[in-house]
Amino acid sequence: TNPSLLILPGDGIGPEVMAEVRKIIDWFGANRDLSFDVSEGLVGGASYDAHGTPLTDETMELAQSVDAVLLGAVGGPKYDELDFSVKPERGLLRLRKEMDLYSNLRPAQCFDALADFSSLKKDVVAGLDIMIVRELTSGIYFGEPRGIIEEGNERVGINTQRYTESEIDRVARSAFELAMRRGKKLCSMEKANVMESGILWREVVTEVAKDYPEVELSHMYADAGAMQLCRWPKQFDVIVTDNLFGDLLSDAAAMLTGSLGMLPSASLGAPMANGRPKALYEPVHGSAPDIAGEGKANPIACILSFSMALRYSFDQGAEADRLEAAVERVLADGVRTADLLGEEGVTPVSTSGMGDAVIAALDAS
Ligand code: NAI
Ligand code: MG
Repeated sequence: TNPSLLILPGDGIGPEVMAEVRKIIDWFGANRDLSFDVSEGLVGGASYDAHGTPLTDETMELAQSVDAVLLGAVGGPKYDELDFSVKPERGLLRLRKEMDLYSNLRPAQCFDALADFSSLKKDVVAGLDIMIVRELTSGIYFGEPRGIIEEGNERVGINTQRYTESEIDRVARSAFELAMRRGKKLCSMEKANVMESGILWREVVTEVAKDYPEVELSHMYADAGAMQLCRWPKQFDVIVTDNLFGDLLSDAAAMLTGSLGMLPSASLGAPMANGRPKALYEPVHGSAPDIAGEGKANPIACILSFSMALRYSFDQGAEADRLEAAVERVLADGVRTADLLGEEGVTPVSTSGMGDAVIAALDAS
């Protein structure tokens, strides 16, 4: 039987970029004997418009039963006034929560043709390919107690950083598994110098490392890590860190490499019966209401999200390499959507123009 994929295009540019991914899925079916059982559903505002909820129980069940979910983006000004309980992002949050996606993979990859876009020197970022694994379901954003209380004659804002051993263990394993498939180098970042949760983090990661003797493990304080990421990011392969530090470090690392329209992500959970993790793939960008409906969106972030699905959910690393090489070729040839324009005299292509260029490069591969 074919591997199964649930596609949730969502709102704004979501459906526009997803249409290009559909072309690529069809290309793999026609040319590489790699077919998927694709189902499509609604999420976010699109689901609210049709069903009065940002995610129906039926779609939630489907997401739990497939090999992988690929999501476009949710939200938009049309839904800004909605009650919190039915806001578009609640659909995405429900997927992440009920699938228990605790490991968030954010690659920072720099295609040579775009190295000039970086805020750093070209030789610092050209060819960069690192992966940040961020714990996504625990830590200071969720820990209790939390709240704003009265103390004496002033208010106090409280959040609690709290990590259990098992929460650290599972995200560490996810990062080591990833390191095994990549450069076998893992750097764990916390602040064990000033945080109890950081001390436990370092201990548990060190214990998990015994199960992965081939992986070279290092530890770094997260603030020093932030400096090293800007100074010489190529020293890293896989980085694993907690929810808060991962939020900051992955956003910073992303900007080493340029446009929001280029950045994919994956959120992984526990292994399923087939040994592969539960998985949701999505571009980092949102629904981009400022350009929605104009055919200007860059589909590469969504295309690279599908490439991550090929690699991590469908065990098709060679085909993922093929797709990423096609994207690289297109960029090297100077094909640019409007968000990537830097050079003078380059005319931007449309969303579908970019998708067609990737297909042409696949044909030539
Ligand atoms: P955004 O990522 O949608 O857009 C930020 C800027 O980047 C805009 O100028 C946009 O045109 C541009 N941009 C984003 N993706 C692009 C692409 N593929 N090609 C070319 N340009 C691109 O973030 P913003 O404006 O803060 O949020 C817009 C809506 O999206 C909001 O409703 C927000 O809640 C939602 N959102 C959804 C996310 C998700 O579905 N995971 C993530 C972030 C925001
Ligand atoms: Mg963030």
